Amino acid sequence: MTDWRIPLSDLDYGSEEANAVQRVIASKWLSMGPEVQAFEQEFAEMQEAKYALAVSSATAGLHLALLALGVGPGDEVIQPALNFVASANMTVAVGATPVFADICSLGEPTIDPSEVERLISPRTKAVVVMHYGGSLCRMAELTEFCAARRIAIVEDACHAVGVAYHDARNRWPNGIMAGSIGDISAFSFFSNKNIASGEGGMVVTNRADLAERVRLLRSHGMTTLTWDRYKGHAGSYDVVNPGYNYRLDELHAALGRTQLKKLERNNQRRRERLALYREAVQSLGGWTMPFADTIDNSSGHLMVIVARDPDVRERAVHALREAGIQSSMHYPCVADFSAFAGGTAAGLEMTRQFTRRAITLPLYPTLNADRINDIVEILRAVLL
Ligand SMILES: Cc1ncc(COP(=O)(O)O)c(C=O)c1O
Repeated sequence: MTDWRIPLSDLDYGSEEANAVQRVIASKWLSMGPEVQAFEQEFAEMQEAKYALAVSSATAGLHLALLALGVGPGDEVIQPALNFVASANMTVAVGATPVFADICSLGEPTIDPSEVERLISPRTKAVVVMHYGGSLCRMAELTEFCAARRIAIVEDACHAVGVAYHDARNRWPNGIMAGSIGDISAFSFFSNKNIASGEGGMVVTNRADLAERVRLLRSHGMTTLTWDRYKGHAGSYDVVNPGYNYRLDELHAALGRTQLKKLERNNQRRRERLALYREAVQSLGGWTMPFADTIDNSSGHLMVIVARDPDVRERAVHALREAGIQSSMHYPCVADFSAFAGGTAAGLEMTRQFTRRAITLPLYPTLNADRINDIVEILRAVLL
């Protein structure tokens, strides 16, 4: 599939996934039905949340989350400039304006709560947070601040499936799952995610009003599904508001369920590999590893290091490529894309530093220790 000697990510797929697909094919029901229902229920249980609604992607989920919250023209949505572009795009899709916030630091590349405070205006309707690489944002501070101002929090939890948040002040003594903390959240099951089904996503919320709106909006505003009518639960339907087709299908749901069963084990494997990387990278010196001290509180989605300057980064990326090792950079500063030029792009110093100096290295549950050593040896040579 790939020419890379060590790819950036790799699927943990086997006979379980093949059997899941086979099960759906044998059932002869392909569109939203019992597999999706079971996936939603299992996901909600894992999240310890009231509602989980399967959607066709996290982007669709973010779109529906913003619509369900009533975000629209004239509103502003504060969000990190260091993020995948989906949340900014969906903010524009609902007619609102993204306002980009900086990250805390190079070692903690999540949205800075003091930036949220600085950027707040009478038009702020929501704050999107993104748990970078699977490590959580400062949720205790952010939830307190937003609750006091009646501003909604949307968690872009695409990196953080299966990880709990623990807050030093013990507001949640038993921890609380990423994606169950804010008003509403979106998860992705894109191929490189900790749960991978190709495409697919999940919206999670504890608010019945939001869950109901998302349920309607994901399927044309219709009050019943084809599955309900097939099962004789409903004869007809009404359309109560204009909506979309953001449904998940049975094949992707069956794959997602199989991957969900492996999640705890695979997140643990990811964390073990992050710990191996940490040891090796720290022995090199000269690199910053974000969230190095809190690997145990991460889903282990990404392995990222920050070079001491952009030149070292460029040399490292080149040397890795020469050795057949795929690397990446999560993410370019969203405020600097042409589509967002002219937006509120002042500041963002830390984000811009990060994007010039960060490298994402290979990380997946089956990556072996020898390969991690190979990768780190290449980084060592770059610094000599
Ligand atoms: C942080 C983040 N947000 C949003 C998305 C969008 O997810 P999807 O591809 O499922 O729409 C992704 C996936 O790439 C992501 O990593």
